[in-house]
Amino acid sequence: MRVQVAIIGAGPAGLLLGQLLHRAGIDGVILESRSQEYVLARIRAGVLESGTVALLERAGVASRLRAEGLIHAGFDLAFGGRRLRIDLEGLAGKSVTVYGQTEVTKDLMEARAAAGAPAFYEARDVAVHAFDSEKPWVSFNSSQKIACDFIAGCDGFHGVCRASVPAEKLKLFEKNYSFGWLGILSDTPPVSEELIYVSHERGFALCSQRSRTRSRYYLQCPLSEQVDEWPDERFWAELRRRLPGDAAAQLVTGPSIEKSIAPLRSFVAEPLRFGRLFLAGDAGHIVPPTGAKGLNLAASDVHYLAEALKNYYQTGSMEELETYSSRSLARVWKAERFSWWMTKLLHKFPEEGGFGRRMQLAELEYIAGSRAAQAALAENYVGLPY
Ligand code: PHB
Repeated sequence: MRVQVAIIGAGPAGLLLGQLLHRAGIDGVILESRSQEYVLARIRAGVLESGTVALLERAGVASRLRAEGLIHAGFDLAFGGRRLRIDLEGLAGKSVTVYGQTEVTKDLMEARAAAGAPAFYEARDVAVHAFDSEKPWVSFNSSQKIACDFIAGCDGFHGVCRASVPAEKLKLFEKNYSFGWLGILSDTPPVSEELIYVSHERGFALCSQRSRTRSRYYLQCPLSEQVDEWPDERFWAELRRRLPGDAAAQLVTGPSIEKSIAPLRSFVAEPLRFGRLFLAGDAGHIVPPTGAKGLNLAASDVHYLAEALKNYYQTGSMEELETYSSRSLARVWKAERFSWWMTKLLHKFPEEGGFGRRMQLAELEYIAGSRAAQAALAENYVGLPY
Protein backbone atom coordinates (compact mmCIF):
# COMPACT_ATOMS: atom_id res chain seq x y z
CA MET A 1 0.00 0.00 0.00
CA ARG A 2 1.15 3.53 -0.72
CA VAL A 3 -0.39 6.80 0.52
CA GLN A 4 0.66 10.42 0.63
CA VAL A 5 0.29 10.82 4.41
CA ALA A 6 0.27 8.05 7.05
CA ILE A 7 -1.48 9.24 10.19
CA ILE A 8 -0.74 7.44 13.44
CA GLY A 9 -3.56 7.74 15.98
CA ALA A 10 -7.34 8.09 15.63
CA GLY A 11 -7.98 10.58 18.40
CA PRO A 12 -9.33 14.00 17.44
CA ALA A 13 -5.92 15.17 16.10
CA GLY A 14 -5.44 12.26 13.68
CA LEU A 15 -9.07 12.14 12.60
CA LEU A 16 -9.28 15.89 12.01
CA LEU A 17 -6.05 15.88 10.01
CA GLY A 18 -7.37 12.95 7.98
CA GLN A 19 -10.59 14.82 7.26
CA LEU A 20 -8.89 18.10 6.24
CA LEU A 21 -6.47 16.24 3.96
CA HIS A 22 -9.25 14.15 2.45
CA ARG A 23 -11.18 17.31 1.57
CA ALA A 24 -8.04 18.71 -0.06
CA GLY A 25 -7.70 15.59 -2.21
CA ILE A 26 -4.65 14.30 -0.32
CA ASP A 27 -4.89 10.61 0.44
CA GLY A 28 -4.03 9.12 3.76
CA VAL A 29 -4.46 6.17 6.05
CA ILE A 30 -5.07 6.20 9.80
CA LEU A 31 -3.56 3.53 12.06
CA GLU A 32 -4.87 3.24 15.61
CA SER A 33 -3.72 0.66 18.15
CA ARG A 34 -6.96 0.78 20.15
CA SER A 35 -10.50 -0.14 19.16
CA GLN A 36 -13.02 2.47 18.04
CA GLU A 37 -15.07 1.79 21.19
CA TYR A 38 -12.04 2.36 23.42
CA VAL A 39 -11.24 5.68 21.75
CA LEU A 40 -14.87 6.81 22.15
CA ALA A 41 -15.04 5.82 25.80
CA ARG A 42 -12.28 8.25 26.78
CA ILE A 43 -13.85 11.24 28.52
CA ARG A 44 -11.94 14.46 27.95
CA ALA A 45 -12.69 18.16 28.29
CA GLY A 46 -15.55 19.79 26.48
CA VAL A 47 -14.82 23.45 25.78
CA LEU A 48 -14.10 24.47 22.19
CA GLU A 49 -12.50 27.78 21.24
CA SER A 50 -14.21 29.62 18.37
CA GLY A 51 -11.14 28.92 16.21
CA THR A 52 -11.61 25.19 16.82
CA VAL A 53 -15.29 25.44 15.91
CA ALA A 54 -14.38 27.31 12.71
CA LEU A 55 -11.86 24.60 11.82
CA LEU A 56 -14.45 21.86 12.39
CA GLU A 57 -16.80 23.85 10.12
CA ARG A 58 -14.13 23.96 7.40
CA ALA A 59 -13.63 20.22 7.85
CA GLY A 60 -17.36 19.73 7.19
CA VAL A 61 -18.03 18.01 10.52
CA ALA A 62 -19.87 20.71 12.45
CA SER A 63 -23.56 20.04 11.79
CA ARG A 64 -24.26 18.24 15.09
CA LEU A 65 -21.91 20.60 16.93
CA ARG A 66 -23.94 23.52 15.58
CA ALA A 67 -27.21 21.90 16.66
CA GLU A 68 -26.19 20.54 20.07
CA GLY A 69 -23.21 22.63 21.21
CA LEU A 70 -23.93 25.15 23.95
CA ILE A 71 -22.56 28.65 23.40
CA HIS A 72 -21.08 30.09 26.60
CA ALA A 73 -20.42 33.82 26.69
CA GLY A 74 -18.78 33.70 30.11
CA PHE A 75 -17.81 31.61 33.13
CA ASP A 76 -17.49 32.13 36.87
CA LEU A 77 -14.47 32.18 39.15
CA ALA A 78 -15.52 31.37 42.72
CA PHE A 79 -13.36 32.17 45.74
CA GLY A 80 -13.91 33.33 49.31
CA GLY A 81 -17.59 32.35 49.04
CA ARG A 82 -18.28 34.69 46.11
CA ARG A 83 -18.62 34.37 42.37
CA LEU A 84 -16.96 36.59 39.82
CA ARG A 85 -18.28 36.35 36.27
CA ILE A 86 -15.72 36.61 33.48
CA ASP A 87 -17.65 38.10 30.57
CA LEU A 88 -15.83 36.47 27.64
CA GLU A 89 -18.04 38.11 25.04
CA GLY A 90 -17.71 41.58 26.54
CA LEU A 91 -14.00 41.35 27.33
CA ALA A 92 -12.65 39.37 24.38
CA GLY A 93 -15.46 39.61 21.82
CA LYS A 94 -15.75 35.83 21.55
CA SER A 95 -17.53 32.96 23.23
CA VAL A 96 -16.69 29.27 23.64
CA THR A 97 -18.77 26.22 22.76
CA VAL A 98 -19.42 23.42 25.23
CA TYR A 99 -19.40 20.15 23.27
CA GLY A 100 -17.61 17.03 24.51
CA GLN A 101 -14.41 15.83 22.91
CA THR A 102 -16.04 12.40 22.68
CA GLU A 103 -18.72 13.91 20.43
CA VAL A 104 -16.12 15.62 18.22
CA THR A 105 -14.35 12.26 17.86
CA LYS A 106 -17.60 10.49 17.03
CA ASP A 107 -18.48 13.08 14.34
CA LEU A 108 -15.00 12.73 12.80
CA MET A 109 -15.17 8.92 12.81
CA GLU A 110 -18.52 9.05 11.05
CA ALA A 111 -17.20 11.49 8.45
CA ARG A 112 -14.23 9.23 7.74
CA ALA A 113 -16.44 6.17 7.36
CA ALA A 114 -18.82 8.12 5.09
CA ALA A 115 -15.89 9.23 2.93
CA GLY A 116 -14.76 5.62 2.62
CA ALA A 117 -11.24 6.69 3.69
CA PRO A 118 -9.09 3.93 5.21
CA ALA A 119 -8.62 3.60 8.96
CA PHE A 120 -7.25 0.52 10.72
CA TYR A 121 -8.25 0.10 14.36
CA GLU A 122 -6.61 -2.34 16.78
CA ALA A 123 -3.48 -2.21 14.63
CA ARG A 124 -0.74 -4.21 16.35
CA ASP A 125 2.96 -3.28 16.57
CA VAL A 126 2.64 0.03 14.74
CA ALA A 127 6.14 1.29 13.91
CA VAL A 128 7.46 4.29 11.95
CA HIS A 129 10.56 3.97 9.75
CA ALA A 130 13.05 6.03 7.72
CA PHE A 131 11.39 9.36 8.49
CA ASP A 132 14.77 11.07 8.19
CA SER A 133 14.85 9.99 4.54
CA GLU A 134 12.72 10.89 1.49
CA LYS A 135 10.96 7.52 1.69
CA PRO A 136 9.38 7.00 5.09
CA TRP A 137 7.15 4.01 5.75
CA VAL A 138 5.09 2.50 8.53
CA SER A 139 4.52 -1.11 9.50
CA PHE A 140 1.82 -2.87 11.55
CA ASN A 141 0.14 -6.23 12.15
CA SER A 142 3.53 -7.95 11.75
CA SER A 143 3.60 -8.05 7.93
CA GLN A 144 1.74 -4.96 6.68
CA LYS A 145 3.76 -2.07 5.25
CA ILE A 146 2.66 1.33 4.00
CA ALA A 147 4.97 3.59 2.01
CA CYS A 148 4.26 7.33 2.30
CA ASP A 149 5.61 10.83 1.75
CA PHE A 150 5.02 11.98 5.33
CA ILE A 151 4.08 10.56 8.73
CA ALA A 152 1.81 12.49 11.13
CA GLY A 153 2.35 11.44 14.76
CA CYS A 154 -1.06 12.02 16.34
CA ASP A 155 -0.75 9.10 18.75
CA GLY A 156 -0.80 10.88 22.08
CA PHE A 157 1.60 11.21 24.98
CA HIS A 158 2.27 7.44 25.22
CA GLY A 159 2.43 6.83 21.46
CA VAL A 160 5.21 5.32 19.34
CA CYS A 161 5.95 8.39 17.20
CA ARG A 162 7.74 10.60 19.72
CA ALA A 163 9.29 7.47 21.26
CA SER A 164 10.84 6.61 17.85
CA VAL A 165 12.84 9.85 17.69
CA PRO A 166 16.46 9.45 18.89
CA ALA A 167 16.66 10.92 22.41
CA GLU A 168 19.50 13.30 21.51
CA LYS A 169 17.28 15.01 18.93
CA LEU A 170 14.57 15.85 21.47
CA LYS A 171 14.40 18.50 24.18
CA LEU A 172 11.73 17.74 26.76
CA PHE A 173 10.23 20.25 29.16
CA GLU A 174 8.05 18.85 31.90
CA LYS A 175 6.27 19.81 35.07
CA ASN A 176 4.26 17.36 37.13
CA TYR A 177 1.78 18.48 39.75
CA SER A 178 1.34 16.69 43.06
CA PHE A 179 -2.42 16.22 42.68
CA GLY A 180 -5.01 14.97 40.20
CA TRP A 181 -8.58 15.66 39.15
CA LEU A 182 -11.29 13.28 40.20
CA GLY A 183 -14.08 13.65 37.64
CA ILE A 184 -17.63 12.39 37.46
CA LEU A 185 -20.22 12.48 34.75
CA SER A 186 -23.88 12.34 35.77
CA ASP A 187 -27.25 12.72 34.11
CA THR A 188 -28.29 15.63 36.28
CA PRO A 189 -28.93 19.23 35.21
CA PRO A 190 -25.79 21.42 35.57
CA VAL A 191 -25.65 23.42 38.80
CA SER A 192 -25.34 26.63 36.80
CA GLU A 193 -25.82 27.75 33.21
CA GLU A 194 -22.12 28.54 32.85
CA LEU A 195 -18.97 26.82 34.14
CA ILE A 196 -17.74 27.57 37.66
CA TYR A 197 -14.01 27.29 38.50
CA VAL A 198 -13.68 27.17 42.30
CA SER A 199 -10.62 28.03 44.38
CA HIS A 200 -11.27 26.70 47.89
CA GLU A 201 -9.25 26.04 51.05
CA ARG A 202 -10.07 22.34 50.67
CA GLY A 203 -8.91 22.31 47.04
CA PHE A 204 -10.01 23.20 43.53
CA ALA A 205 -13.40 22.21 42.07
CA LEU A 206 -14.94 22.66 38.64
CA CYS A 207 -18.57 22.55 37.60
CA SER A 208 -18.79 21.78 33.91
CA GLN A 209 -21.41 20.18 31.68
CA ARG A 210 -22.04 18.30 28.47
CA SER A 211 -25.67 19.32 27.88
CA ARG A 212 -28.61 20.76 29.77
CA THR A 213 -29.19 17.35 31.32
CA ARG A 214 -25.65 16.03 31.73
CA SER A 215 -23.11 17.43 34.19
CA ARG A 216 -19.36 16.99 34.51
CA TYR A 217 -17.80 17.84 37.89
CA TYR A 218 -14.22 17.68 39.10
CA LEU A 219 -12.48 17.79 42.48
CA GLN A 220 -8.78 18.27 43.11
CA CYS A 221 -7.57 15.18 44.98
CA PRO A 222 -4.25 13.70 46.11
CA LEU A 223 -2.62 11.48 43.48
CA SER A 224 -2.47 8.64 46.00
CA GLU A 225 -6.28 8.40 46.07
CA GLN A 226 -8.19 5.63 44.24
CA VAL A 227 -11.55 5.94 42.51
CA ASP A 228 -13.10 3.27 44.75
CA GLU A 229 -12.35 5.46 47.77
CA TRP A 230 -14.85 7.93 46.31
CA PRO A 231 -18.38 6.55 46.35
CA ASP A 232 -20.84 9.03 44.79
CA GLU A 233 -22.10 10.27 48.19
CA ARG A 234 -18.58 11.23 49.23
CA PHE A 235 -18.00 13.04 45.93
CA TRP A 236 -21.21 15.07 46.16
CA ALA A 237 -20.64 15.96 49.82
CA GLU A 238 -17.11 17.19 49.09
CA LEU A 239 -18.23 19.14 46.03
CA ARG A 240 -20.97 20.81 48.06
CA ARG A 241 -18.44 21.91 50.68
CA ARG A 242 -16.25 23.58 48.06
CA LEU A 243 -19.03 25.40 46.17
CA PRO A 244 -20.17 28.90 47.09
CA GLY A 245 -23.42 28.76 49.12
CA ASP A 246 -25.82 29.77 46.34
CA ALA A 247 -24.42 27.15 43.98
CA ALA A 248 -24.34 24.45 46.67
CA ALA A 249 -28.05 25.09 47.26
CA GLN A 250 -28.76 24.52 43.54
CA LEU A 251 -26.73 21.32 43.20
CA VAL A 252 -28.72 18.35 41.92
CA THR A 253 -27.02 15.03 42.61
CA GLY A 254 -27.54 11.59 41.09
CA PRO A 255 -25.67 8.41 40.24
CA SER A 256 -22.38 8.81 38.39
CA ILE A 257 -22.10 7.27 34.94
CA GLU A 258 -18.32 7.68 34.77
CA LYS A 259 -15.72 8.35 37.43
CA SER A 260 -11.97 8.62 36.98
CA ILE A 261 -8.82 10.28 38.34
CA ALA A 262 -6.47 12.05 35.95
CA PRO A 263 -2.99 13.33 36.87
CA LEU A 264 -2.04 16.89 35.88
CA ARG A 265 1.01 17.48 33.73
CA SER A 266 2.65 20.22 31.70
CA PHE A 267 4.90 18.83 28.95
CA VAL A 268 6.43 20.07 25.70
CA ALA A 269 8.73 18.26 23.27
CA GLU A 270 10.91 20.33 20.95
CA PRO A 271 10.97 20.29 18.01
CA LEU A 272 7.73 18.87 16.57
CA ARG A 273 9.28 17.85 13.24
CA PHE A 274 11.98 15.28 12.47
CA GLY A 275 12.55 15.05 8.74
CA ARG A 276 9.25 13.72 7.43
CA LEU A 277 7.70 12.92 10.82
CA PHE A 278 5.47 15.57 12.40
CA LEU A 279 4.08 15.45 15.94
CA ALA A 280 0.65 16.98 16.60
CA GLY A 281 -1.51 17.18 19.72
CA ASP A 282 -0.65 15.21 22.87
CA ALA A 283 2.20 13.40 21.08
CA GLY A 284 4.07 16.70 21.27
CA HIS A 285 2.68 18.46 24.32
CA ILE A 286 0.38 18.11 27.32
CA VAL A 287 -1.37 20.85 29.30
CA PRO A 288 -3.09 20.47 32.66
CA PRO A 289 -6.87 20.56 32.04
CA THR A 290 -7.47 23.89 33.82
CA GLY A 291 -8.59 26.10 30.93
CA ALA A 292 -9.46 23.16 28.62
CA LYS A 293 -6.71 23.81 26.09
CA GLY A 294 -5.73 20.22 25.18
CA LEU A 295 -8.11 19.56 22.30
CA ASN A 296 -7.89 23.16 21.11
CA LEU A 297 -4.10 22.93 20.84
CA ALA A 298 -4.37 19.65 18.95
CA ALA A 299 -6.72 21.44 16.54
CA SER A 300 -4.34 24.34 15.95
CA ASP A 301 -1.40 21.96 15.34
CA VAL A 302 -3.52 20.08 12.83
CA HIS A 303 -4.52 23.32 11.12
CA TYR A 304 -0.87 24.34 10.63
CA LEU A 305 0.09 20.87 9.48
CA ALA A 306 -2.81 20.45 7.05
CA GLU A 307 -2.12 23.86 5.49
CA ALA A 308 1.60 23.05 5.12
CA LEU A 309 0.85 19.68 3.49
CA LYS A 310 -1.67 21.26 1.11
CA ASN A 311 0.93 23.86 0.19
CA TYR A 312 3.51 21.13 -0.45
CA TYR A 313 1.22 19.17 -2.75
CA GLN A 314 0.19 22.31 -4.63
CA THR A 315 3.62 23.88 -5.07
CA GLY A 316 6.24 21.27 -4.22
CA SER A 317 7.70 23.62 -1.61
CA MET A 318 8.81 22.19 1.76
CA GLU A 319 9.01 25.64 3.30
CA GLU A 320 5.76 25.60 5.30
CA LEU A 321 6.48 22.08 6.48
CA GLU A 322 9.93 23.17 7.63
CA THR A 323 8.48 25.96 9.77
CA TYR A 324 5.58 23.86 11.13
CA SER A 325 7.38 23.14 14.39
CA SER A 326 8.32 26.70 15.26
CA ARG A 327 4.91 28.10 14.30
CA SER A 328 3.06 25.45 16.27
CA LEU A 329 5.32 25.72 19.29
CA ALA A 330 4.86 29.50 19.47
CA ARG A 331 1.14 28.94 20.08
CA VAL A 332 1.69 25.86 22.25
CA TRP A 333 3.95 27.70 24.71
CA LYS A 334 1.40 30.49 25.19
CA ALA A 335 -1.30 27.92 25.98
CA GLU A 336 1.15 26.09 28.28
CA ARG A 337 1.73 29.34 30.13
CA PHE A 338 -1.99 30.05 30.46
CA SER A 339 -2.87 26.52 31.62
CA TRP A 340 0.00 26.54 34.16
CA TRP A 341 -1.03 29.98 35.41
CA MET A 342 -4.69 29.04 35.80
CA THR A 343 -3.67 25.81 37.55
CA LYS A 344 -1.42 27.69 39.99
CA LEU A 345 -4.04 30.35 40.63
CA LEU A 346 -6.88 28.01 41.56
CA HIS A 347 -5.47 24.81 43.14
CA LYS A 348 -4.41 24.12 46.69
CA PHE A 349 -0.62 23.83 47.01
CA PRO A 350 -0.02 22.85 50.67
CA GLU A 351 3.75 23.18 50.17
CA GLU A 352 3.29 26.90 49.43
CA GLY A 353 1.83 27.48 52.90
CA GLY A 354 -0.22 30.43 54.09
CA PHE A 355 1.83 32.90 52.06
CA GLY A 356 1.08 31.05 48.84
CA ARG A 357 -2.63 31.05 49.60
CA ARG A 358 -2.60 34.80 50.33
CA MET A 359 -0.87 35.39 46.98
CA GLN A 360 -3.64 33.42 45.21
CA LEU A 361 -6.35 35.40 46.98
CA ALA A 362 -4.60 38.70 46.26
CA GLU A 363 -4.39 37.80 42.57
CA LEU A 364 -8.07 36.80 42.49
CA GLU A 365 -9.00 40.11 44.19
CA TYR A 366 -6.85 41.96 41.68
CA ILE A 367 -8.61 40.21 38.80
CA ALA A 368 -11.99 41.06 40.37
CA GLY A 369 -11.07 44.75 40.45
CA SER A 370 -9.26 45.09 37.13
CA ARG A 371 -10.88 45.02 33.73
CA ALA A 372 -7.41 44.72 32.19
CA ALA A 373 -6.66 41.57 34.19
CA GLN A 374 -10.05 40.11 33.30
CA ALA A 375 -9.46 40.91 29.63
CA ALA A 376 -6.10 39.08 29.69
CA LEU A 377 -7.78 36.04 31.23
CA ALA A 378 -10.68 36.16 28.75
CA GLU A 379 -8.41 36.63 25.72
CA ASN A 380 -6.48 33.47 26.59
CA TYR A 381 -9.57 31.47 27.56
CA VAL A 382 -11.36 32.06 24.25
CA GLY A 383 -8.13 31.17 22.43
CA LEU A 384 -5.26 33.17 20.96
CA PRO A 385 -5.29 33.71 17.19
CA TYR A 386 -3.64 31.10 14.93
C1 PHB B 1 -14.80 19.51 31.07
O1 PHB B 1 -15.96 19.83 30.82
O2 PHB B 1 -14.44 18.33 31.11
C2 PHB B 1 -13.81 20.60 31.33
C3 PHB B 1 -14.22 21.91 31.19
C4 PHB B 1 -13.32 22.94 31.44
C5 PHB B 1 -12.03 22.64 31.82
C6 PHB B 1 -11.62 21.33 31.96
C7 PHB B 1 -12.53 20.29 31.71
O3 PHB B 1 -11.18 23.65 32.09
